Amino acid sequence: MLALCLACCLTGTSLAQEAEKYFDKNKLMLVGSYYYPEQWPQENWERDIQNMSRLGFDFTHYGEFAWAEMEPEEGKYNFEWLDQAIALAAKNNLKVILCTPTPTPPVWLTQKHPDVLMVNAEGRTIRHGARQQASWSSAKYREYVAKIVTQLAKRYGNNKAVWGWQIDNEPSHYGAAFDYSENAQQRFREWLKQKYKTIDALNSTWGTAFWSLTYNNFEQIQAPNNLVLVAQANPHAILDFKRFTADEAADFVLFQQDILKKHIAKSQWVTTNLMADYSPVDPLRFKKLDFPTYTKYLVAGFDMGHGVQGFRMGSMGGIGFANDFFRPIAGVTGVMELQPGQVNWGQYNPQTMPGTVRMWIYHVMAGGNKFVCNYRFRQPLSGGEQYHYGIMKPDGVAVSKSGEEYVKVNQELKELSKHFNPKATMPKSMLARKAAILYNPDNRWETENQPQTNQWDFVSHLKRYYSALKAVGAPVDVVDEQADFAAYPVMVAPAYQLLDQQLVARWKGYVEQGGHLVLTSRTGQKNREARLWEALFAQPIHELVGVKEIFYDLLPESRTATVQMEGKSYTWNNWGDVLEVGPQAEVWATYTDQFYKGKAAVVSRKLGKGSVTYVGPDTDDGQLERDVLRKVYERAQIPVLNLPEGVVVEWCNGFWFGLNYSSQNQTLPVPDKAKILLGQRELIPAGVVVWQE
Ligand code: GAL
Repeated sequence: MLALCLACCLTGTSLAQEAEKYFDKNKLMLVGSYYYPEQWPQENWERDIQNMSRLGFDFTHYGEFAWAEMEPEEGKYNFEWLDQAIALAAKNNLKVILCTPTPTPPVWLTQKHPDVLMVNAEGRTIRHGARQQASWSSAKYREYVAKIVTQLAKRYGNNKAVWGWQIDNEPSHYGAAFDYSENAQQRFREWLKQKYKTIDALNSTWGTAFWSLTYNNFEQIQAPNNLVLVAQANPHAILDFKRFTADEAADFVLFQQDILKKHIAKSQWVTTNLMADYSPVDPLRFKKLDFPTYTKYLVAGFDMGHGVQGFRMGSMGGIGFANDFFRPIAGVTGVMELQPGQVNWGQYNPQTMPGTVRMWIYHVMAGGNKFVCNYRFRQPLSGGEQYHYGIMKPDGVAVSKSGEEYVKVNQELKELSKHFNPKATMPKSMLARKAAILYNPDNRWETENQPQTNQWDFVSHLKRYYSALKAVGAPVDVVDEQADFAAYPVMVAPAYQLLDQQLVARWKGYVEQGGHLVLTSRTGQKNREARLWEALFAQPIHELVGVKEIFYDLLPESRTATVQMEGKSYTWNNWGDVLEVGPQAEVWATYTDQFYKGKAAVVSRKLGKGSVTYVGPDTDDGQLERDVLRKVYERAQIPVLNLPEGVVVEWCNGFWFGLNYSSQNQTLPVPDKAKILLGQRELIPAGVVVWQE
């Protein structure tokens, strides 16, 4: 297994090689900052760009919202201002990421063609006044998009200062996530026709012979919308509509990439910036981009992090998970937007703990990102996002607190570059514990669609396993079923509800060859179209797991129940799969109360050279998940680290990184013989240590 893994990591995948070509392999991660020339008086530009360069940034980012400045009237283009802004960047040794401005159509466009606007679930047409108001499904909108993108591509496709392109901005419809416009409805019907060919096939898959839902033809179908129904919409229709919406987002972006690629130089790359946890858009559908990038904001009142000060740092699974999710998609990735400190749009907008922004940047670097871009250089004085921090204070010339953290990193990176060995390969100890998390958005969509309990949260469930893997110091790739399973000594497939016999057979083969597979709550209950098996509940995985029967139980939020493993007690109430074990499985944890007291909660079995472990309960604190994962590694005799909650250890490009997201001081496992390049073994909250061994 290790040999296989080594071979894979050393040769790399062809995907990685493809996208790697855009970046100088002798350079460490580059750091940039967003600038909106259109938002500032022209006399500020030179000073601001000079300052950006002086503070150590490598690149800037222009244009994603500037359609009204680029095309103030239909067909009348004005690019002189952008020419100048790009020239100023070049003069100051800053590369430029240039964007297509398609999240913000100008008012003349939407007033002339109101049918390009998207319509939300409540039936409200989203109007001019903010952003993301156009429908990806509108052919008319795409006509206009094609024109402006062609203009940009022809004008800047061979401009040496332009490093790469970002398409649109966080393609999504934000709060009003699903598009119910007539354009979208029509494209959904076409999508269904393509998929099912005949209406009978659709009726059969959707199970419409209940509640008199049978359709006579595709034209009768309306996108499912719970707001106009008294009971829940057909679950298969919802799953298909989510798949369609995700396809449509990717299609809108790839359609723009095709236009760009006709005109731009081979050295210029194309990406888009996606939100890591944003469900209606699926990053895996962007594989045909040169590479997707991500955007990340951790401190906005949603993520309580670790311990009492966690809300000022966010949790270690924020950037960490995004790194490990986006990097495997095309082999490389970058962070297009990173929070600069206090923001304006959160549930509440706390200050970040001093040092946090710097720690985030190192976390990005530890995840192998090619670049990180701070959002944004200047704090806006008027218009949207007024209270949003920038690198500069509102006066435009004094460096803000988080700006200082960027400046510090920019200086430190110069020092670290001297120790950079681009040929460094992952140490054997890390490689041995490498883990995959197997992810398919269908499992998220379907379990969220029919959660069975208000406490079910797919992303939290998955991240509990992500954190458990990080707690043993495992390098993680989040992968889909196209991945080479054999490259990973350990694989976790969280809540893998939708599957087929082929996947079960692949899992079996993986385990027999030495893989250690961990399956969790809800796995294997349905086929790929979310139909329950005409068999015992979750029967397709019974043999693999070594169980004879599974049922699940759910508790009220106000009650907890317990399971016990090796004398230690754990509480749960979100989800509990109760397992009837067969002879091959060893019971690791048992339910200690409820009417099924004494039944198995976690079981594990050996199979061939590997093992299969099934974890029935979903806890809130993730303790059970952590201890089970640790036991899987122990049994497999793979040496691990034992990291406290909130502490991260990563290896990347020859550097070891230690980060402290916890609210206490922590001692990092830096070996005595290590050469510490930055920081020290003892870390205060938001502290960073970088070393080489
Ligand atoms: C991002 C968005 C940016 C900006 C930023 C503010 O989600 O892509 O355009 O609005 O939030 O924090």
